[in-house]
Amino acid sequence: MKESQPSAIYLKDYQVPPYLIDKTELTFDLDEATTVVTSRLHMRRNPESTQQNAPLVLDGGEDVKLIGVAVGDCALPAEAYRVNEDKLVIDSTPDAFVLTCETLIEPQNNTSLEGLYRSSSMFCTQCEAEGFRHITYYLDRPDVMSVFTTTIIADETRYPVMLSNGNEVERGKTEEGKTVVVWHDPFPKPAYLFALVAGDLAVKEDVFLTQSQREVALKIFTESHNIDKVDYAMEALKRSMRWDEETYGREYDLDIFMIVAVDDFNMGAMENKGLNIFNSSCLLASPKTTTDDNFLRVEAIVAHEYFHNWSGNRVTCRDWFQLSLKEGFTVFRDQSFSADMHSDTVKRVEDVSFLKTAQFAEDAGPMAHPVRPASFIEISNFYTLTVYEKGSEIVRMIHTLLGEEKFRAGSDLYFERHDGQAVTCDDFVAAMEDASSIDLTQFRDWYSQAGTPIVTVTDSYDESTKTYQLTMTQETLPTPGQDSKVALHIPVRMGLLSQEGDLLPSSLDGTVSDEHVLHLTDFEQTMTFENVSSRPVPSLLRGFSAPVKLRYEYSAQDLLLLMSSDADGFNRWSAAQQLAVNELTQLINQAIQGQALSVDSTLVDGFRALLNDGSLDPAMVALILALPSQAYLSELANPIYPAAIKQARQHLKKQLANTLSEEFERTYHEHNMAVDYQATAEQIAHRSLKNTALSYWVETGTEAAIAALTKQYETADNMTDQFSALSIAVHGQLSNAGDLLASFYQQWQNEPLVVNKWLALSAGQEQDNALQHVQSLMAHPAFDLKNPNKVRSVLGGFGQNVSGFHNADGSGYRFLADQIILLNKRNPQIASRLCTPLTRWKKLEPTLSALMKAELERILAEDLSKDVYEVITKSLN
Ligand code: TRP
Ligand code: ZN
Repeated sequence: MKESQPSAIYLKDYQVPPYLIDKTELTFDLDEATTVVTSRLHMRRNPESTQQNAPLVLDGGEDVKLIGVAVGDCALPAEAYRVNEDKLVIDSTPDAFVLTCETLIEPQNNTSLEGLYRSSSMFCTQCEAEGFRHITYYLDRPDVMSVFTTTIIADETRYPVMLSNGNEVERGKTEEGKTVVVWHDPFPKPAYLFALVAGDLAVKEDVFLTQSQREVALKIFTESHNIDKVDYAMEALKRSMRWDEETYGREYDLDIFMIVAVDDFNMGAMENKGLNIFNSSCLLASPKTTTDDNFLRVEAIVAHEYFHNWSGNRVTCRDWFQLSLKEGFTVFRDQSFSADMHSDTVKRVEDVSFLKTAQFAEDAGPMAHPVRPASFIEISNFYTLTVYEKGSEIVRMIHTLLGEEKFRAGSDLYFERHDGQAVTCDDFVAAMEDASSIDLTQFRDWYSQAGTPIVTVTDSYDESTKTYQLTMTQETLPTPGQDSKVALHIPVRMGLLSQEGDLLPSSLDGTVSDEHVLHLTDFEQTMTFENVSSRPVPSLLRGFSAPVKLRYEYSAQDLLLLMSSDADGFNRWSAAQQLAVNELTQLINQAIQGQALSVDSTLVDGFRALLNDGSLDPAMVALILALPSQAYLSELANPIYPAAIKQARQHLKKQLANTLSEEFERTYHEHNMAVDYQATAEQIAHRSLKNTALSYWVETGTEAAIAALTKQYETADNMTDQFSALSIAVHGQLSNAGDLLASFYQQWQNEPLVVNKWLALSAGQEQDNALQHVQSLMAHPAFDLKNPNKVRSVLGGFGQNVSGFHNADGSGYRFLADQIILLNKRNPQIASRLCTPLTRWKKLEPTLSALMKAELERILAEDLSKDVYEVITKSLN
């Protein structure tokens, strides 16, 4: 352990910056050994600061070597400034001046992938959140916005493409024959949006005509062997640009928009102004190498980064506590876009499943934090599901409360009022309030209160008066640092069904409708519906109108009724999911008690009806047939018995398969269509139902099923069908799984993104010696500890491996801890994310829990990065 532990910073301590930087002029002399960065910062004291005598304190990392610093024309003597491990302090400055700094960095030795680094043969940057300080000394905070001019000097033979933000304004040669390119970005921006790329790259070009008839040049850059895989991203980009004009009235603002794909990247992608940088796994797509899910992910992330141009770049965050201001809103925007491009119900089910599995688990664990955190040690740890996904749910609730039109008026006002500013979540809500005249005072607590509210509903019907009463309570359990909770403003969209499944209109506060939005604002509230003609079944929380855990005692009969008849597609899925959860909960309990597992007939009957109803959307049928995941069942369980959950799922799947084998076989063939591959909602729906049916059918172990799988694997002309067949063989533990895995690697060894999928699947393979298998994967030539995608594939895949990761001797936990220790110094952001599965120790059954805790303690004994230190200490608290 270090002598001095990293300390937290607090939202309540926010102060405006004492200095501003109006203009930033950067020169990069790129070189394989040492890169020289010269900055000229046009600075002045901030008239709004109360600290008019404060020294100038610039952020800079230990990896930045300061060669010289000058104020105006005067080089500063050594006694005029101080450099410590992360700051440059100049005690006295004029009120306005130009600060010149010359610094040296070594991008080729940068393994953290923050700042300027190398990925294969290129130079690239990642500056969010605090990467810029690893490039040069700066006021590296989002409320310091500056106009950037960037000069790049490099050897043109190795780096023919040299890019930065904005427009290229000059190109020339130095005396030594190096190429000089100058970029200028007219929009003031914080340093986290700065980007630079240099390399030998191929480009795909296109043009977009904006709604005001301006031509925007679109350019996507990749290494030359990947340029045949960017067509889909280009089309997705154009769809995003059009959608943002039509839906939010937002037009693109520069003459050029560029995207670059890099192989080594800590996250998915980054919205640098005019120059987005993408993890190649989130940009490249082709039918032969990319699954349907991955196509949709590429489209969503292209849209997400593009939408940041307004929600993030034109209007940015005042400080990093406000991260959800841009991320929550932009996730909401990309989710709406994908819903419009494909099926809104399917999209909603996928997003909610993810939220309820992963964000709810985060909210129930030691890292639980509000959407707007009150403090942090390392901001990189707060790019979380809570900030992103729950943040999006908050924006969605505002949308529900205001309605489409007023929401749009609110967003128009927000963009107009704050264009060019760095603002807060509260400013966002205030714009929504001002444009709609709807009071959001209580609603704001969603930003500051952590934890998932539990909403419990009971009801009663009075036949004689035709009135129906719903009583709702809300409770949020304590989370770290927040012992007592307030009542939130929870919008509950709902309707009533008759026992026959018909819509049952009702009158609430004088409004007669099939559907109402209830406002749960107290800890307990009763709503009275009039003119309800018969005893209803309530359809609650339609469309998942609030991120809460809903508790209502539905009978199996109620759930079957909602599943087949509710007007809300999302709630039809939700009812089916609840039916499966109820069944699995019973089986899990039987497994824990060592009893024989016995399956009830309700779910089987529901699934049979589903498989026999030809009128349904195949995508929805597939979603309903997919049993609740190991991860979701773990989130619901307390304590978690991983092996019992696995056993229950396998047992139920086999029972369903055996009972409905004919239905699954027929469904497989019905949806197995010979078409030219396209990633359209319609085709994706058929493929997903077909492959779901196959995953059941092979559970019967019949020759016909195995033959169908093998044939599909061998003859597939697209990755979705090929990889589905392979995963079904692996997860179904078919005897040919090993052979198929080997042949798959043979076929795709030269396609890194496909190899990554192979690594993840192989690492997830349940088998007796799962740990040795994962160790051999890490020694495989396809593995590379420097590449985050490969680390994520293998260790992420292993984390899902129940027999491997949750091995009763603790060897799986020890192995993961070893990898975290190994990566802690090299790449703190990745190391910290790998800790997530270990943070769940308190919820595990006692034996596994103790083994996991011991590994956290072992990690804590190391000299830790801030990133890992924060997660480990909070987990042990
Ligand atoms: N702003 C990016 C996004 O959500 C997130 C991101 C990309 C990021 N790279 C990062 C965050 C590195 C932290 C560190 O679109
Ligand atoms: Zn984002």
